[in-house]
Parts: sequence; structure tokens; C-alpha cells
Amino acid sequence: MTPGPDDRVDPEVPIEDVAGAVKDLIVAGKVLHFGLSEAGGATIRRAHAVQPITAVQNEYSVWSRDPEMEVIPVCEELGIGLVPWGPLGKGYLTGTITPRTTFREGDLRRMLPCLATEARRANWPVVELLQRVAARHQATPGQVALAWLLARHPWIVPIPGTTKISHMEQNVQATEVALTPADLGEIEDGFARIEVQGARSSEAILRQTDVGAKLGTSSRGGHRLSPLPGEKRSS
Ligand SMILES: NC(=O)c1ccc[n+]([C@@H]2O[C@H](COP(=O)([O-])OP(=O)(O)OC[C@H]3O[C@@H](n4cnc5c(N)ncnc54)[C@H](OP(=O)(O)O)[C@@H]3O)[C@@H](O)[C@H]2O)c1
Repeated sequence: MTPGPDDRVDPEVPIEDVAGAVKDLIVAGKVLHFGLSEAGGATIRRAHAVQPITAVQNEYSVWSRDPEMEVIPVCEELGIGLVPWGPLGKGYLTGTITPRTTFREGDLRRMLPCLATEARRANWPVVELLQRVAARHQATPGQVALAWLLARHPWIVPIPGTTKISHMEQNVQATEVALTPADLGEIEDGFARIEVQGARSSEAILRQTDVGAKLGTSSRGGHRLSPLPGEKRSS
């Protein structure tokens, strides 16, 4: 199973039921692997206890760090891969989306607070940081954004999205960009001084998202996404 938007944690169904259904399909030979998308640490643990998870697909990139608090340590502990979506900041980290860029009608990025015109202006230092490192490697800022993810852990593999062959080729070449410890330190130090403006997603979607940016806020606490087995379902 390839994790994707349809695999986000269902607030109406205990994750054990979902994992159990996938387990049945795996036993029947109809499914090879189990993945979750935008899952928090507690949900990952509960699902993994029923059917081992192969990969988790959460948003993760240089400027969107939610998984670092909880999800990455859990994936490391349980031996689960992380395939970050939005690794290019939905295009912003490539430096090709400026405050002047107009998103087409129907482009979902119109609804993202981090890509509102003012936020694009305020967040530009993130792009400049990547551009500085990229210049030393004769690379693009987008390639550095991908190389940064590839350098985190061997089991973190970004999945950039594109509609253009030339962009896909450029993104693949990010595997050739070998960031040095100094490069990685510069990105971390630089990013620590930048306060990203605007949430990564709309408020309505984030309210439904089982990310658990803080320990204990996923699944069991906070917004109580993925009810426990036998628990009264959320209304
Ligand atoms: N699990 C989930 O909930 C979830 C949510 C969203 C997305 N996803 C998946 O994750 C994947 C990636 O996420 P994403 O597409 O949202 O974000 P992304 O990979 O961070 O950014 C994609 C954007 O960057 C642009 N881009 C890509 N390569 C570029 C390059 N070399 N130079 C300049 N611009 C470039 C693309 O435009 P062009 O088409 O012009 O290249 C596109 O607008 C997608 O395959 C998507 O299916 C999963």
C-alpha cells in the first residue's frame, strides 16, 4: 500500500481496526505493505502493534519540522521508514515562488497560510539560507532541501512532487549533493534564527490531523484523533 492523502488517520475508526483490516489483506496476499499518512507517534505505535508498518508519510522539510518532536524518534525505534511529503515546501523552497507569484484557480496552495503573500515575503530567509549552501555545491535550493532530508537518516526518503520532467531530473540529481557537517550546521543554525510565518496547512485540516507536534497530543490526548478500541467515537 502506498501511503497518501486517502490514508490519513480516520478520527472515526480505532487505528487497531484499520491495521487489523490491512493485516487480513496482507495475509490474503492482496497487500504487500502497510503505511500511514499524517499519523502521530501514539497512533503509529498502536497500529504497528497490530500490523507492522513499513512507512509513514508525513509532511517534513527544512521549514516544516513537526515530525522531529515525536514521529521521527518513534519511526527510528520501531524501524519504520519515513517518506516526507512536501519536501520542497510545496515548491517554495525551490525559490521559484515569490510574493509576486499567483497561484492558479483551484491550486490548493492558495489556502495555505505559510504561502500567503505576506508569509512568502517573511519566510524568504529560509530560501536565502538554502541558496547560500546551494551556491557552494553548484546546486539549486530545492536540491539542497532534498539533500538535507536525505542526510537526516538513511530511512528518510523524500517524495518531491512535480508535473515536469526537467524538475524531476533536477530533483533526482539532489542525491548527488553531498552536504557536509558544516553545511548541515549552517542550515540548522540559520533556521533556528528564523520564525516561519503561517501554518503549514489550513486550520480546518490541521484540526483533523493526527500529527501530535508535542509529545502526548496525538491519538490519546489533545484532539483525540483515532479513538481507542471500544471508545465512544468522536461526533
Ligand atoms: N500524504 C499526504 O497527506 C500528502 C499531502 C500532499 C502531497 N502528498 C504527496 O507528496 C508528494 C510531494 O508533495 P507536494 O507535491 O505537495 O510538495 P513538494 O514536493 O514539496 O512540492 C511540489 C511543488 O514543487 C514544484 N517543484 C518540484 N520540483 C521542482 C523543481 N525542481 N524546481 C521548481 N519547482 C519544483 C512543483 O511544481 P512543478 O509541477 O512545476 O514542478 C510543485 O508545485 C506528492 O507526490 C503528493 O502526492 C501527500
